[in-house]
Amino acid sequence: MNINLFINIAMKIIKVKSVFLILILTTLSTYSQNNTTVISVNNDETSPIISKHIYGHFAEHLGKGIYGGFFVGDTSKIANTNGVRNDIIEALKKLKIPNLRWPGGCFADTYHWKDGIGPKENRPTIVNKWWGGVTEDNSFGTHDFLNMCELLGTEPYLSGNVGSGTVQELADWVQYTNFGGKSPMSDLRKENGRTEPWKVKYWGIGNEAWGCGGNMTADYYANEYRKYATFISDWENSGGLVRIASGANSADYNWTETLMKNIPSKMLGGIALHHYSVIDWSKKGDAVTFTEDQYFATMSEALKMEELVTKHAAIMDKYDPKKKIDLVVDEWGGWYEVEKGTTPGFLYQQNTMRDAVLAGATLNIFNNHSDRVRMANLAQCVNVLQAVILTDKAKMILTPTYYVMQMYSVHQGAKLLPIKFESPLYTFNNKSLPAVSVSASKDKSGQVHVSIVNVDVNKENSIEINISEIGVKEISATIVTSKNVQDHNTFDNPSKIQIKEFKNFKIKEGNIILTIPPFSVVMLEGK
Ligand code: AHR
Repeated sequence: MNINLFINIAMKIIKVKSVFLILILTTLSTYSQNNTTVISVNNDETSPIISKHIYGHFAEHLGKGIYGGFFVGDTSKIANTNGVRNDIIEALKKLKIPNLRWPGGCFADTYHWKDGIGPKENRPTIVNKWWGGVTEDNSFGTHDFLNMCELLGTEPYLSGNVGSGTVQELADWVQYTNFGGKSPMSDLRKENGRTEPWKVKYWGIGNEAWGCGGNMTADYYANEYRKYATFISDWENSGGLVRIASGANSADYNWTETLMKNIPSKMLGGIALHHYSVIDWSKKGDAVTFTEDQYFATMSEALKMEELVTKHAAIMDKYDPKKKIDLVVDEWGGWYEVEKGTTPGFLYQQNTMRDAVLAGATLNIFNNHSDRVRMANLAQCVNVLQAVILTDKAKMILTPTYYVMQMYSVHQGAKLLPIKFESPLYTFNNKSLPAVSVSASKDKSGQVHVSIVNVDVNKENSIEINISEIGVKEISATIVTSKNVQDHNTFDNPSKIQIKEFKNFKIKEGNIILTIPPFSVVMLEGK
């Protein structure tokens, strides 16, 4: 062999080996050292702002979500403003809810908005065919909802009826709520007592068009969407409407692909995605008395959100590389069997530490994908599924999920800080999940927040956070935790789970060192 060739090959081998060595060393440095997970939080000027709308909520005409939840009527003995409970208004204001989706869900595609305006005694009744077959008297309608959003200081997100409505009906709704000048619908609004338009920005064009919204194929819906979007426009031409297409069910990537391919991007403000953390649709398990097997299955479904948003976003990137169209996860959360003794169609369930972990880990995923995920809505706000608020007549409780949402509200509108780490594993029955979930952000005032979730139901996790690059000095921390993962707040013991101060950390050589208990959510704050 030629000596030069020999030297060349030898050099290449050495080079490849050292690249491997460097790789191994870097990996090891982010891997556990003495079972410690090392997380580095970095600065990156190019990283996105976390849209506040990721922290959105959802209120459907379902069970005791609206009636007996938000809305008790203005003759109720429960303190209210125009029929909406004052205690709920206060609690949601504290959460800083950025948007509220209404009136469904499946209900939206059976809802005819004109039934819910004008004098209440003249409003027709309908049957809520999706949720318990109960009679709906339409006493909570457009004015009630939009005025309530003003009280809450939140943006309304209206879901239009595509499944059983008409284009004209939805176009009229836009004119009714948004047009300031003289027109048939704005005159009607004024007759009904509201002079100024509400200027609703977010419009869903149907809901679950692949299912309760009409059992459409993706191709058929894409055409329907184009037709609706043509007429659902801003009457004052200020370009202020965000039209959101009914999106995929979990991993139905073909749905997203078909919509992205067939709808002109200028007609599309966002594409939705629905994913519930359900163990098995025919055996969803109890919300409170669950086994580790069921806990693990719920968490597997919750953490699947990482793969779902990654893959749906990758499809969107192909057609919209500048990321102008939002991915809107407008239904997410845990779904269990209803509480014993409650109406099956009302979807009333308790909310435990399992739900707190589910919420914390899911919100971390959304934060970390905030370059594309710009809106999300937890299902649902009051008394339905993974609710943040439960009511029983005059009583109201805040759930563990409420407290996680409250803790995480600091991420709203803050700049995402990239993080690097290798999660330890939570292993059960030979299956594993990442045990630690993290996201970080820096707000306008320079405060840095790092939210950390320990998904492992058995083991605490030692964590070392390298903050030298972001130069944080004074740290404080809060935690949502409890003794048992099944723990929850009840009407008799409403404060069992709350946000508490967390002191189990220290700062050493530019690192924060902490041990996070099993099934806990921690928020670090520093400047
Ligand atoms: O959130 C409950 C229901 O779940 C919604 O109405 C529907 O969109 C979804 O299937």
